[in-house]
Order: sequence, then C-alpha cells, then structure tokens
Amino acid sequence: MWKTVQPAPPDSILGLTDAFRKDQNPNKVNLGVGVYKDENNKTPVLRCVKAAEEELLETEASKSYLPISGDPAYAAAVQQLILGEGSSVIADKRAATVQAPGGTGALRVGGDLIYKFNPQARLWVSSPTWANHNGIFAAAGFEIKQYGYYNPESRDLDFDLLMHDLHNVPAGDVVVLHACCHNPSGVDLSNDQWQQLAKLAAETGWIPFLDFAYQGFGDGVNEDRFAVEQFAAAGVDCYVASSFSKNFGLYNERTGAITVITPSADEASVAMSHLKTVVRTNYSNPPAHGGLVASLILNSSELHTIWLEELAGMRDRIKDMRRALVQGLVAQGVDGDFSFIERQRGMFSFSGWSDDVVARLRKDDSIYVVGGGRINLAGLTTSNIEYVCAAVARAMK
Ligand code: LMR
Repeated sequence: MWKTVQPAPPDSILGLTDAFRKDQNPNKVNLGVGVYKDENNKTPVLRCVKAAEEELLETEASKSYLPISGDPAYAAAVQQLILGEGSSVIADKRAATVQAPGGTGALRVGGDLIYKFNPQARLWVSSPTWANHNGIFAAAGFEIKQYGYYNPESRDLDFDLLMHDLHNVPAGDVVVLHACCHNPSGVDLSNDQWQQLAKLAAETGWIPFLDFAYQGFGDGVNEDRFAVEQFAAAGVDCYVASSFSKNFGLYNERTGAITVITPSADEASVAMSHLKTVVRTNYSNPPAHGGLVASLILNSSELHTIWLEELAGMRDRIKDMRRALVQGLVAQGVDGDFSFIERQRGMFSFSGWSDDVVARLRKDDSIYVVGGGRINLAGLTTSNIEYVCAAVARAMK
C-alpha cells in the first residue's frame, strides 16, 4: 500500500524539534515547541514532582489497570483546580471528569464525544489557533470554521469581530476557546470580555469548549480560571480540556483531563457513561503515573505550596524574558514598538516576524521559530538573548 502513498509533512511544531535536535550548530536556539526551559536552558523535573515520585516508589503497590475514567482522586483534584475548591458545580455534581492522555488526548475525547451525538455541529476555532486544534477536531469528524480573534495591526484582540462572529454561530455548534494564555498569540480576553462571552453562549446556544493548558502561566492558578468559572456559572453544557504538561512539567507523562459541565447532576452522569465508551474504544484506560504524581501534590499541603512556588518561578522567568527581549531588540536597533510583547501572556508571543524572517533565522543562525512567528519565550535565557536579538536585527534588514 505504501508504494503509492505520499509522505505526510512534518508536524508544524513537533517537527521543528526534530530538526532542532539534528542541527549541529552549538549556538542553536529552540523557540518553537511550548516547553518550559530554565535559565540553564533545561526543562527541569519540578522538585514537588521528584518528591511525589519518591513517595510513589515507596507506596505504589500495583500496576493494575486504572478504571476507564482514570483515578477518582485525580479527577477530584482536577475539578478543584480548574473550577476552584468552593465551586458549586462540584458540590452539585454537575461535572464529569475523566483522566486523559495529555491535553491533546482530552481534546480528542471531548471531540469524539460531541461528534457522536451531534455530528452535524460545526466546530469553530479562533483565527489563529494552535495548529493541532484543526487536526484533532477534523480527525474527530468536524467541519472546522474560524472566528475572528487577533488583529495583526493593533497586535491585540479584535473583540468586536469576535463578538460579531460568535453572535452568528448557530446553536449546537462548538466554539473552542483558550481559557488563558492564548496559543499562539499570547493575547487574552479581559475578565469583562469573558463575562460578555459567557452570556452570549447562554443566549445563542453554541457550546463552549475551553482548552485550558496553561493554568498558572498567566497571573496565577486562581486568576487564570476566570473564564472557566464564567461558563460553568452560565448553566450551559461546557467542555474543559485541561493539562498538567506545562504547569507540572509532566510533558512526557501525558497527564490531562476532559471535564464535561452540564446543567444538572443527572446529565453529568449520562455524559460520564458515554465518556467511558469513547475512552474504552480509543485506549481503554489512561496511563497512571502522571495522574498519581499530580494528585499526590495537589492533596499534600506541603507539596502544593512548593508547586505554587515553582510555578510562580516559571511564570516570572518568562515575564523577565519578555522584558529582556524588548530591551534587546531596541538595543540592536530593530525598528518598531515592541511593547506588545510585554502585554502578551503565557509562554508565547506572536512576534510579528514574517515567514521570511523566520526562515532566515533558522537558515543563518539555527534559531527555530514556529511558522507565523510564534516564539516560546521560555527558550530565551540571559545567555542566548543577545545572540537571538542580533540575529533578528540581521534577518529583518
Ligand atoms: C505547543 O503548542 O508548542 C505545545 O502545546 C506542544 C504541542 O504539542 O504542540
């Protein structure tokens, strides 16, 4: 069969990491994939994770299967983190959560679930969005549509366009929203705008599907759940795909969850029954290790405190690199106002560098940037920032 099949192109983000690994230039810099790096350009195992793993090594008594929906303690910890401890949604049992293999797995399980009962729904993503949203939801069967989001001229959110487009989305269609730290633009809605959007969802009947992969990278774990709280309170069906890849650094443990929020406990229990059939026919039940680690940390006050400190450390270092990048570009005499880089939130910045600049950075200086100009600020360090800024200045000439 393969004699006649054309090869698939490399993945636009993970394919870049493959190319970076092969690059022999000792000065190479990876600003591509959204993986946190510390000041030494390493992706560390968090101290709280190491401590939890040590405890697990002592106490874990079996590697038998988890339930189809995953570890119940993990699901409870996820709900408390994404909805807030005192959430009435939890008290009223209006949420069904299953453990999923990473944020990607969570999005796909949610997509499969909706498509199973609502195959005529179209699915709307922001323009632009994380490239894999298109792949995941197209593979689930959806026709993908785009709503306006980012204005390249103002380098800001085009809220009027977003509201206009989403006002016209029919009831039953699915709207994917980035709950915080929009990927790729780094441009988020304000709290007031989230409130307006949740109201619009309730009025028009489209289904919000929140991708919540960066909780804690914006302003903090509590502040960053504002959007989720608004949709949960709106009394509509709502989906939240969450991930511990970034905020716990559990990238390769594939630790995520899909949470379905419904207007009543009965509906949540029906949703749970069907979530289980989706999981069973995809991968049977989730991997355990990452979930065990995360719930151990979230349920230990000591480890929880350490985690919040480590998360704040990652968030602050990224903010420092935003400042350093702006100063570095100005110092290199690159033309323009770069203050937008400091306004953006989370791991990414939409740099505004054209695809031509991106190609030159890679060819001339082994600096890897995702097409469209998305850069991962965490790939910058005080050691490589001058090299990067000088290269940008040359590439933009
Ligand atoms: C990214 O956007 O770089 C991350 O979410 C990693 C990925 O899987 O693409």
